[in-house]
Amino acid sequence: MGLTPTFASLLFFLGLHGICTGFLQENCTNYSLQFERVFSVPGDMAMLNSTLVSPDVFDFQTVPYNITWYDSETGDEISNQTGRIVVQGETLWFLKITENDSGDYVTILRTPFRCYRQVTKLVVDQPEKCGRPRKCNQRLTKGVTDTLPCPLKDYTRKLDSYNISSTLTWYRGCERIVDRVGQYVYRDRTTLLIKEVGAQNNYDYTCSLNFTLGGVAGSVSETIDAWVRDEYSMVPQVHEPTNRTIRAEIGTNFSQLCSVFVPGVGLPFVDVIWSMGNKIIDATHPSERVYTIAQPFRFQDGSKKGVYMELLLAFSQLREEDFDVNYTCQAQSGRGHPQAYFTLLAADPNVMLPIGSVFGCVMVLFITSVIVFYLFKVDIVLWFRKMFPVLYRSKDSDGKLYDAYVAYPQSCAIGFSVEVETFALHALPHVLEKACGYKLFIAGRDCMPGEAIVDSVVENIQASRRLLLLYTASTFASKRHTSSTSSTSSSSNNNNLSKNNNSESTTGGGGVGFDEVYPDARQQLECLAAMHRALIEGSLKVVLVELEKITPAQLALFPESVRHLRKKQGAVCWWKEQRTRQRRRTCTTRSEEDKENGGREDTKLSPSLSPSTRFWKEIRYYMPVRGKMAVYPEKTALLNL
Ligand SMILES: *[C@@H]1O[C@H](CO)[C@@H](O)[C@H](O)[C@H]1NC(C)=O
Ligand SMILES: *[C@@H]1O[C@H](CO)[C@@H](O)[C@H](O)[C@H]1NC(C)=O
Ligand SMILES: *[C@@H]1O[C@H](CO)[C@@H](O)[C@H](O)[C@H]1NC(C)=O
Ligand SMILES: *[C@@H]1O[C@H](CO)[C@@H](O)[C@H](O)[C@H]1NC(C)=O
Ligand SMILES: *[C@@H]1O[C@H](CO)[C@@H](O)[C@H](O)[C@H]1NC(C)=O
Ligand SMILES: *[C@@H]1O[C@H](CO)[C@@H](O)[C@H](O)[C@H]1NC(C)=O
Ligand SMILES: *[C@@H]1O[C@H](CO)[C@@H](O)[C@H](O)[C@H]1NC(C)=O
Ligand SMILES: *[C@@H]1O[C@H](CO)[C@@H](O)[C@H](O)[C@H]1NC(C)=O
Ligand SMILES: *[C@@H]1O[C@H](CO)[C@@H](O)[C@H](O)[C@H]1NC(C)=O
Ligand SMILES: *[C@@H]1O[C@H](CO)[C@@H](O)[C@H](O)[C@H]1NC(C)=O
Ligand SMILES: *[C@@H]1O[C@H](CO)[C@@H](O)[C@H](O)[C@H]1NC(C)=O
Repeated sequence: MGLTPTFASLLFFLGLHGICTGFLQENCTNYSLQFERVFSVPGDMAMLNSTLVSPDVFDFQTVPYNITWYDSETGDEISNQTGRIVVQGETLWFLKITENDSGDYVTILRTPFRCYRQVTKLVVDQPEKCGRPRKCNQRLTKGVTDTLPCPLKDYTRKLDSYNISSTLTWYRGCERIVDRVGQYVYRDRTTLLIKEVGAQNNYDYTCSLNFTLGGVAGSVSETIDAWVRDEYSMVPQVHEPTNRTIRAEIGTNFSQLCSVFVPGVGLPFVDVIWSMGNKIIDATHPSERVYTIAQPFRFQDGSKKGVYMELLLAFSQLREEDFDVNYTCQAQSGRGHPQAYFTLLAADPNVMLPIGSVFGCVMVLFITSVIVFYLFKVDIVLWFRKMFPVLYRSKDSDGKLYDAYVAYPQSCAIGFSVEVETFALHALPHVLEKACGYKLFIAGRDCMPGEAIVDSVVENIQASRRLLLLYTASTFASKRHTSSTSSTSSSSNNNNLSKNNNSESTTGGGGVGFDEVYPDARQQLECLAAMHRALIEGSLKVVLVELEKITPAQLALFPESVRHLRKKQGAVCWWKEQRTRQRRRTCTTRSEEDKENGGREDTKLSPSLSPSTRFWKEIRYYMPVRGKMAVYPEKTALLNL
């Protein structure tokens, strides 16, 4: 099946070859004239290279082929001519060009079934004194180190493939340039490096390649017209972006500047582009979601001259597709294409902010609640007791008779004071018993002094839920301390009360004991029991009622147990209530007030008998709760307020 056409074409090919000896008659694929011409001068060597042996033409690796060169004028096949022509495959060498060599040369490439045709033009010019008449232009940058590449790379590459050595020589005009002399350095075999280019380099430079081929030593040369320019530009530098990932939120707008710095003088030929993947972002209008905004050039003077060329990449609204891809900014210039990129990373929605603010609010609320509670603790607790008595245990069945046992210095005892007694016998029962409904046991009222039996005192205390301990500055002070108390006390109030302290002290000091508290046998027992229960067992709550301001010096004389109790739970201060009342009542100055104090001794302790004043509220706070909750032995109270 495949044999017949192959055989036929072979017959056709052979037949055609037989009939037509000239190449013109051959039916070949026409590759016409090569674009590049070969320029030479008489005496030089010249190389003509056919480009038909290329994968674009046929598969030259596997298909066998023959190449033949023809002179297009005569139609003669060209073959080796000693000392003049070397034909080596696709390459035709002229070892010593003459003017007559000028013309078109035809290459025919034949494979078993096809043929290809190409024409190469050789131009032979009149020689010049130094250098070649055909010159290529090249720009040199003033003030920097620049390079001139020799345009004979094709020759050196071909000679290398033949293993033929070659030497390259540079000339400035007719003058030979020696390597590493002056501002010149030979580099990379075909490149001339010129340091600190100046006006003197505005000249013709010629490179000559000497080699020996086909037994002939010859050379080929090219001339460059070097053109020194004041304006110059160096390799651009991309300052921004910086190959980083940037966090951004979906839905927000975003922009990133591409900042390219081109060192040099004048406006360089540099393009700045943004691209995503292989796609260049060329939209420049904000109606596009992703677009670029050109920024004005910024010239920089000084030691680092140059220009900033900047392009802003803007996203009017970020979408998911914008994330995790590289946005690349590239500076395109004749000296290189440096680039840098950035990648967007979806920012986690900021959960810390709401959590933090909620937490902060809760904290603020908590702190204010605590502060409010401490400021209005007494009021809140009293209100709560009043509103929700069911939450509190009923005390009716605890076997106690009294809500409080009121203890204070009795007459004839050390520390006795009329004011204290008045307070105990009138103010206390008036408010607590009449207004609030508590049941009190008042030592000087419910049992007369002297008549009491020790046992009954202890019994009565045991039958009480609280012990109200009334005292003034002088209550616990013995006589030997009186003078110091008087001298240290600042207020006249204290002085007055100290005068009451005229009884003989019967105590001799000692440890923490009842003998220091109320130096009277009966009271000693009362207090023994009270202190004992309060401090040791903790079963009986003692409420300290301070009727007079106590200075630290006076406090030091107090029995340790009272001091301890006062420090631990504080005292309810009657004198504070008196002071605020007094302030409200009088508009007198402080000194007048002090002068008047003597005459106002009575009003000082005169009761403020409204249960809603601060003092009485505090007392009520410490008094037992009148709860309504039935007590079951196994249940404990929810609230201990
Ligand atoms: C040359 O070949 C083409 C096909 O490649 C054909 O069409 C043409 O007729 C041929 N010409 C001659 C003169 O054989
Ligand atoms: C090949 O192309 C050249 C230029 O295009 C033309 O002059 C020449 O006649 C062509 N040859 C053939 C055989 O077609
Ligand atoms: C000569 O032409 C061939 C293709 O036919 C090409 O591969 C080679 O690089 C060329 N040689 C030079 C020195 O240009
Ligand atoms: C190449 O030429 C040789 C003889 O010079 C010949 O034997 C061979 O068949 C030719 N090959 C082709 C593909 O024409
Ligand atoms: C021409 O001579 C070179 C060596 O100088 C040789 O390699 C080449 O094959 C010769 N060409 C022909 C067509 O004989
Ligand atoms: C060039 O050809 C002309 C005639 O065409 C001849 O007179 C002349 O001698 C030739 N020159 C060389 C260098 O071969
Ligand atoms: C060139 O020389 C190297 C060794 O120097 C050798 O391996 C190679 O085959 C030679 N090539 C040719 C084309 O002579
Ligand atoms: C290179 O060859 C030319 C002749 O072709 C000769 O004048 C010149 O001196 C040679 N240069 C070197 C460096 O050998
Ligand atoms: C991005 O949005 C902000 C306000 O949300 C606005 O001030 C800014 O100009 C916008 N930027 C761009 C590039 O549109
Ligand atoms: C971005 O480019 C850098 C460097 O070219 C590469 O390492 C990285 O994988 C790229 N990232 C993406 C998301 O394409
Ligand atoms: C950024 O990455 C590019 C390759 O994508 C690299 O050429 C360039 O030097 C990098 N720049 C920096 C500042 O790392």
